[in-house]
Amino acid sequence: MATENWSELKYESGFGNHLSSEALPGALPKDQNSPLICPLGLYAEQVSGTSFTAPRKLNQRSWLYRIKPSVTHEPFIPRVPSQKHLVSEFNQATSSATPTQLRWKPADVPVSPTDFIDGLYTVCGAGSSFLRHGYAIHMYTATKSMEGCAFCNADGDFLIVPQQGRLWITTECGRLQVSPGEIVVLPQGFRFSVNLPDGPSRGYVAEIFGTHFQLPDLGPIGANGLASARDFLTPTAWFERDSYPGYTIVQKFGGELFTARQDFSPFNVVAWHGNYVPYKYDLHKFCPFNTVLFDHGDPSINTVLTAPTDKPGVALLDFVIFPPRWLVAEHTFRPPYYHRNCMSEFMGLIYGAYEAKADGFHPGGASLHSCMTPHGPDTKSYEATIARGENAEPQRIDGTMAFMFESYLIPRVCPWALESPHRDTDYYQCWIGLRSHFSCKERESEDGVGSGEVVTVSE
Ligand SMILES: [Fe+2]
Repeated sequence: MATENWSELKYESGFGNHLSSEALPGALPKDQNSPLICPLGLYAEQVSGTSFTAPRKLNQRSWLYRIKPSVTHEPFIPRVPSQKHLVSEFNQATSSATPTQLRWKPADVPVSPTDFIDGLYTVCGAGSSFLRHGYAIHMYTATKSMEGCAFCNADGDFLIVPQQGRLWITTECGRLQVSPGEIVVLPQGFRFSVNLPDGPSRGYVAEIFGTHFQLPDLGPIGANGLASARDFLTPTAWFERDSYPGYTIVQKFGGELFTARQDFSPFNVVAWHGNYVPYKYDLHKFCPFNTVLFDHGDPSINTVLTAPTDKPGVALLDFVIFPPRWLVAEHTFRPPYYHRNCMSEFMGLIYGAYEAKADGFHPGGASLHSCMTPHGPDTKSYEATIARGENAEPQRIDGTMAFMFESYLIPRVCPWALESPHRDTDYYQCWIGLRSHFSCKERESEDGVGSGEVVTVSE
């Protein structure tokens, strides 16, 4: 694997565009997708990310022109050793239901050499990859680059959020460098390999089954704001031509891993065109919107990408961020309000501190507040906010990047996540100290009613 020039890679710009890329001039066929003989003696291969007959505005596919086609490999066999910490069907056999507020401290990066595939573990999820409806939330800790193998996820799309350590990702469409503070989406079925130039690495992964990420509608915000389409970057064609005896494809299929051997690198695509492609996005380019007078907006205002369900406005999975921004609301409790939500919320922290948690929520850590489980600012954050008083000046939240995976489907939690030594079993304590500030005095002075007596209202 070449190590040069990763920071100077060229990308194509735009979200959802139909793109073309050639590593060698003339490698793309002119005027048609599948000529009898392709230029440069390449094979044509289509990768379909949606059903052939999906509506045009949703249809995603790309044509790859490669030295040898993907099919040229030995039969798939179960991988040895198996990977027992990946789940793609969430039921009583694989995972547990719990309404408890859950929080995890950052996981330790393993001591023994571990690559991205073996460092990946499912935390929670819902639905089934076989039924093409649902999602899985994973985390990873890894120390070494993948060698002589490529990963292929047949179950769904990966949205990877690196928290520590850059990722050098080689895909069939080309190479991407993804740093903490950036995200990368690797669509279902693409083969990719992850190198770790910084060594110990850690991060989060949302996997969605049966759909793809979109930019959210902007409604009354208008035509601009939040994540701009032009800031999404897709790699340009890059290929390896040498034979590679013993190269292994590791295919995730139904949450299980299978391997197939071949004698060449899968990164042998000399040219491609289409709209089904990997892409990355720098979260620092997000243009946040917020209240400018009073009250606290719902977190959906900070949606970067959304994976829809068939219900209008209801997400299979939203990717929402809490970036640096100004808080200016007057006579308003500025941190997130206390609430219960029919949607379920998994949160992570890339760097800095999250405004609603003074303690205990660390970069690399995570929390899960499931459907209708109450949550909100911890005691320290609440008391500090109240103590600041009503004349609070505009405040810039800086040096932080938190995010949320939010879903309409209710997650079940994997046993190793519930039993993890990194689970913060005292999490509930952060709210136990919230004391009553209730007083009848305001009401007494207004209408003279009561002196601490119970007032019963009957119909
Ligand atoms: Fe929430």
